[in-house]
Amino acid sequence: MITIENLEKSFQFGSGEDKVLDQVNLSLNSGEITALNGVSGSGKSTLLTIIAGLQNATNGKIVVDGVELTNLKESELRQRRASQFGFIFQQSHLIPFLSVKDQLAFMIETAGRKWSRKEREEKIDAMLEAVDMMKHKDSNPNNLSGGEKQRVAIARALIHEPEVLFADEVTASLDSKRSTQVMEIIRNIAQTRKITVLMVTHDEDMLQYADRVVTMKDRKIIDA
Ligand SMILES: Nc1ncnc2c1ncn2[C@@H]1O[C@H](COP(=O)(O)OP(=O)(O)OP(=O)(O)O)[C@@H](O)[C@H]1O
Ligand SMILES: [Mg+2]
Repeated sequence: MITIENLEKSFQFGSGEDKVLDQVNLSLNSGEITALNGVSGSGKSTLLTIIAGLQNATNGKIVVDGVELTNLKESELRQRRASQFGFIFQQSHLIPFLSVKDQLAFMIETAGRKWSRKEREEKIDAMLEAVDMMKHKDSNPNNLSGGEKQRVAIARALIHEPEVLFADEVTASLDSKRSTQVMEIIRNIAQTRKITVLMVTHDEDMLQYADRVVTMKDRKIIDA
């Protein structure tokens, strides 16, 4: 589904250059949860954001469903990113002043889904059920706990039915009980809807939710 070939990323500093990723090769299989781990600063977030088209590689190729991302115009990339991909980060980044259901409705619009009002409402309800947030449908994000916010963020990341979910340290701000709950929800939805997941984590306990674990080391990937 996604293949990464000979990916390189360097950052300039002053007159020098710091190579963070060197000749990285990786395939993400359809419907599979891949966990990316490795020590802090090893380049996990950099790799995730490049694969997701959020920043450019210095060299190399990323092919999603047969389309090479690196060849796309910025506008095409943006459109694909909004419709094919979903994102969750360490912080939930919910939009203040929008109710829980409106966070999801906003994403449906952003992704350009042409669903009828009825379809949209049914999908929002089903998704809020899946993350056990139906009773907070009309709540404001400010009134939710950290774990609840993160469950809304999952719902928002998946409501437009993306093919790929990118999740960067999504349990890092949660206690172990809530982390487990969040990971179980992600795994259940991903399995039911056959979503390809790339999750970055440095929490060993979260690796059990992955079908495959790959490790970043010395600017490269070690595929276990
Ligand atoms: N925009 C940038 N400019 C310069 N250097 C950067 C930039 N982004 C990342 N780096 C450097 O690239 C390296 C990898 O960073 P990255 O954030 O990908 O690591 P990480 O594995 O996600 O770490 P953590 O587990 O702490 O989140 C680090 O040395 C970081 O300082
Ligand atoms: Mg990181």
